[in-house]
Amino acid sequence: MDINKLRKDFPILEKKFNGMPIVYFDSSCMTLKPKKVMEAINDYYCNYSSCGGRSIHKLGAAVTIKIEDSRKRVGKFLNAPNPDEIVLLKNTTEAINVVSNGLDLKKGDVVLTTDKEHNSNLVPWQRLTMKKGVKHIALKSNEDNTFDFKGYEKAMEGNVKVVSMPHTANLDGYTIPAKEIIKIAHENDAIVVLDGAQSAPHRKVDVKEMDVDFFAFSIHKTCGPTGVGVLYGKYELLENLEPLMVGGNTVLDTTYKSYKFMKPPSMFEAGLQNFAGVIGAGAAIDYLSAIGMENIEAHEIKLNSLATKLLDVDGLDLIGPKDPRLRSSIFNFNIRNMDSHDIAIILDEVRNIMIRSGAHCAHSWYHTQNMNGSARASFYLYNTEEEVKIFAEEVKKLIDTFRG
Ligand code: ALA
Repeated sequence: MDINKLRKDFPILEKKFNGMPIVYFDSSCMTLKPKKVMEAINDYYCNYSSCGGRSIHKLGAAVTIKIEDSRKRVGKFLNAPNPDEIVLLKNTTEAINVVSNGLDLKKGDVVLTTDKEHNSNLVPWQRLTMKKGVKHIALKSNEDNTFDFKGYEKAMEGNVKVVSMPHTANLDGYTIPAKEIIKIAHENDAIVVLDGAQSAPHRKVDVKEMDVDFFAFSIHKTCGPTGVGVLYGKYELLENLEPLMVGGNTVLDTTYKSYKFMKPPSMFEAGLQNFAGVIGAGAAIDYLSAIGMENIEAHEIKLNSLATKLLDVDGLDLIGPKDPRLRSSIFNFNIRNMDSHDIAIILDEVRNIMIRSGAHCAHSWYHTQNMNGSARASFYLYNTEEEVKIFAEEVKKLIDTFRG
């Protein structure tokens, strides 16, 4: 992986503020976009901006072909057995809502999540406790934020119908042992939903090998445009899922008294879709696939190992397992006596180091820790060791200044 060559694909990296380049360490929130993705989107608007899935003229047909092509690429990226198991939606949040609303859950059924949930995999299930009397259990992690198998096996003795967990947590980058979790869930007749927002952009995901039932991720975190998300679902499960949104393109036929749904994935893709975004998604998936997910993962671990080594200092509290190999691309921390937003503002001001601060949409976990939030640096394929050194240097200055 030639990082310097690859960085040239991202025009935004040429940007300077106060004469200094940017150090973009916020890719867990949103990745930067390579030229190829922007070109694909522009090509749609310039050359065939028209209506896919409906109009059969030359321009409409070109869009339909491109959309289905993106679907196939996403399917291959996840090793989905059938491209029709790929539903193209708005984001991970929408994908999880489609599943939580579409399953036939009843009073007393248990949904099991972890205790480190992004709100997108918490609130949709909490709503079911209010609407349907479903029971939600947040499984406690071990002290070091790793997965507690004993607790999981015990929880599975209850009436668990759905296990819905972050494949990789946005909080600390920890990846759960999904295959083993799924095997145990299936032995107990529960289905498994994985929130893959932080795994699919960073490692090879194989839905077939994991045998996962539903898997969701967002294209804006995989070098693609905003407004596109993916839901993979086993075909027979999609066929039995009640659609969340209905209307145009979800039905084969209607009368004033009836309607007949199309088959998945169309029945979940209501209304005119984000064609430009989906076409950009195809280009983004191509871009990542050409680099190779194993290479991306190894590069991030290298950067995270360096950050962890350089910042193994008194005054800094790291969130999650100490071993950087267990934290993917995420270095989430607090500096004693400092508010996380102040850390983010100062790093941005002094060296254009861009990180995210606050509760990272995981308020529930921060409440249990009596923390207001934390400062999170997240690395990606275009980041360099040099940037990590600059970051570590500036963080150390903050520690020295504010430690008291
Ligand atoms: N889920 C995104 C993050 O963790 C927004 O930053």
